[in-house]
Amino acid sequence: MDFFNYKDGSLHCEAVPAHVIASAVGTPCYVYSRATLVEHHRRSAEAFAAVNPLICYSVKSCGNLSVCRTLVECGAGMDVVSGGELFRARAAGAAPSTIVYAGVGKRDDEIGAALDAGIYLLNVESEEEFENIARIARARNVTCECALRINPDVDPHTHRFTTTGTKETKFGVDIERARAFFRSYGRDLHARLVGLHLHIGSPVYETAPYVEAVRKALALRDELMAEGFTVSVLDLGGGFAADYETGRSPAAADYARAIVPLLVPAVSAGLRIILEPGRSIAANAGILLTRVQYVKRSGDKTFAICDAGMNALLRPSHYDAFHFIWPTDPAPNFVPTRRTENPEIPGLVSMDVVGPLCETGDYLALDRSMPPVVRGDLLAIYTAGAYGMSMASRYNSSPLPAEVLVDGDKFSTVRRRETYEDLVAHER
Ligand code: LLP
Repeated sequence: MDFFNYKDGSLHCEAVPAHVIASAVGTPCYVYSRATLVEHHRRSAEAFAAVNPLICYSVKSCGNLSVCRTLVECGAGMDVVSGGELFRARAAGAAPSTIVYAGVGKRDDEIGAALDAGIYLLNVESEEEFENIARIARARNVTCECALRINPDVDPHTHRFTTTGTKETKFGVDIERARAFFRSYGRDLHARLVGLHLHIGSPVYETAPYVEAVRKALALRDELMAEGFTVSVLDLGGGFAADYETGRSPAAADYARAIVPLLVPAVSAGLRIILEPGRSIAANAGILLTRVQYVKRSGDKTFAICDAGMNALLRPSHYDAFHFIWPTDPAPNFVPTRRTENPEIPGLVSMDVVGPLCETGDYLALDRSMPPVVRGDLLAIYTAGAYGMSMASRYNSSPLPAEVLVDGDKFSTVRRRETYEDLVAHER
């Protein structure tokens, strides 16, 4: 669900017409809906209420300070994967006691910053990393809590670039090694190993891989506790899907219905649950607005050449990802009733929606059925709130897009469009 709807034929974000924002701020421009962010957080919290999880919003999905601040105001903690994201989380007002930090390659300075901030949990991915964290904590004479990231070896059936919970990925350690890990490090006094962490992939459109992963994690926890180790935290990561097409994704309640019953007994006996949703909160809370610069025909193909490409939204070219794209102000017969790859509306034409960059791979959609478009039309690229701006680049010296946050009938620029001077500022 989200609050992007056509009213009187014109796409609105909450109560603001998209074309009003584009005229004021220019294109390309990301537009986020505050109400959607809040509602997605609320639904996750409500769905999993029986296990009272700490919901740590995954900053990597959309790290804009105002977006993060909105979620902090909802009571969310933050999941970070770098010193930069830790800085963002804190700048957004997240309490250190609600920040968890994962990542396979944490540098000494990043670990030091996390210890100095006093964050809640470091999610540890290798033996060498644990030893390094323990060394840094000892040198500072502080203690920190760590969770071991395990690979439950389940297949989430998602893109190979975003499959993380199978045995041979760079993330975490397999279950066999996890036992040895606790035996080696489970009694360290400075880096206290108190939990398990997993994240199986993203997006995961089924509940079964979670069920399998949780079962394996709980069985491992039982074994470790029988050996006398403390395992008081279980961080299940994120990966919950989003509606790239209307109704495609399970709802938070569907995931919870499958997962929560497995967790309740352990939670009643004191286990703390952490969730790290990113996409399921941010994806449908954002669109990218782009203006058609030219319409060009080449052979049998029609190209709509836009002012946003893989620089602004990498997902179509990098993951072959589908994003619904539609004019914000279509002719009345073309107002869509649902977002789908093959809308059954008479009169649509097939086109490639491409960006301005000097790469054949610079596209937003290939062979897409859309209403005919003309130069100057404004297009909305949906479900772009997660891994949109956060993966944007300046390729071809493209200044990064502006970001706008809508709240009811008001909107504000929460990141100004970069200027050409910004592009070269660090090279002067
Ligand atoms: N926790 C950990 C440890 C993660 O690695 C991730 C995502 C998340 C949480 C949040 O996952 P989410 O709830 O957003 O699915 N760039 C890719 C997605 C990469 C996800 C990486 N890890 C894309 O655009 O699809």
